[in-house]
Amino acid sequence: MSIRCLQRPEMPRGGLFFRAPPRVIGHRGAMAKAPENTLASFRRAAKDGSRWIELDVHLTSDGIPIVFHDDELDRTSDGSGPLSAITLAELQRLDAGTWFNPEFAGARIPTLAEAVALSDELGLKMNVEIKPSPGASVATAEAVVELIKTTSRTPQNILFSSFEIDALAAIQRAGQHWPRGLLLDDLHLGWRDEASQLGCSSVHPQHGTLTSADVVLDICETGLAIFTFTVNNPARAKQLLDWGVDAVITDDPAAILAVI
Ligand code: G3P
Ligand code: MG
Repeated sequence: MSIRCLQRPEMPRGGLFFRAPPRVIGHRGAMAKAPENTLASFRRAAKDGSRWIELDVHLTSDGIPIVFHDDELDRTSDGSGPLSAITLAELQRLDAGTWFNPEFAGARIPTLAEAVALSDELGLKMNVEIKPSPGASVATAEAVVELIKTTSRTPQNILFSSFEIDALAAIQRAGQHWPRGLLLDDLHLGWRDEASQLGCSSVHPQHGTLTSADVVLDICETGLAIFTFTVNNPARAKQLLDWGVDAVITDDPAAILAVI
C-alpha cells in the first residue's frame, strides 16, 4: 500500500490556484476523438466531461498566437512547411480537420483568442503550453500573456506550461501571479532548482518517469502540483492518481473519467 501525498485544504500543493485539482485534462482537446488543437476538439473534451483542456501555442510570421502543435504544417493540416513562415491570413485558409477524418473537413487552425473565447463560453480551464518555433520562446510567451490579458474574461483559469525555460522566465517577468508549470521529459538533475527559480506552481512530467509511488511522493514533497502527460491507459491513469498526481493529461478524457 502506497503512502499518498495528500492535499492540505488550507494550502493545496501548487498554491490556491489548485484548490480544485483537475484530475483529468484533455490533451489538445480530445485528440483521440477530434482533430487536435481545433475548436471541435475543445468542444468534444467539454462534452466528454473534461473541465480542463491543454493546448499548444505558436506564433505566425506576423506575430499572432495560434493553437498548433508541430513546427511544420504538414502532419495536421493541408499546408506544408514551417508554421512560423506563414501569416495568419494564409493559415486561416488551411484545413486542419480532413487529415483526421473527412467528417471534420473545414476545421480551421484556431487563434489563441478564439480558443480563449470558447473556453470562457464553455467554462473550461486552460493549460496553455508555450510551444515556440525555434528561437521564438520569449516572443511567443510575451505575445501569449498580452493576448490573455486583453481577451480572457477568466484569466484566473489559465495555467501556462512549457519545456522552454526562457518562455517560463518571460511569463514570470510578466507577473508573478501567472501560474507556471515546468514540463519535463525526464527527471534530470537540477529540475527542482529550475522549477523553484521560475516560481512554478506545478511540474508536468512525462508519465513514464513516474515509476513508483515513492517517486510521486518525492515530487509531492516539493509542494508542486503534478500534472502528468500523456496517459491514455485507464488503469495507468488510476494508478497515477492513486499515487497522488493531481491530474493526468489524456487524449481521451471520457475513457479516463469512466474509471476514476
Ligand atoms: O503539456 C503536455 C504535453 O502536451 C507535452 O507534450 O508534445 O504533447 O505538447 P506535447
Ligand atoms: Mg502540449
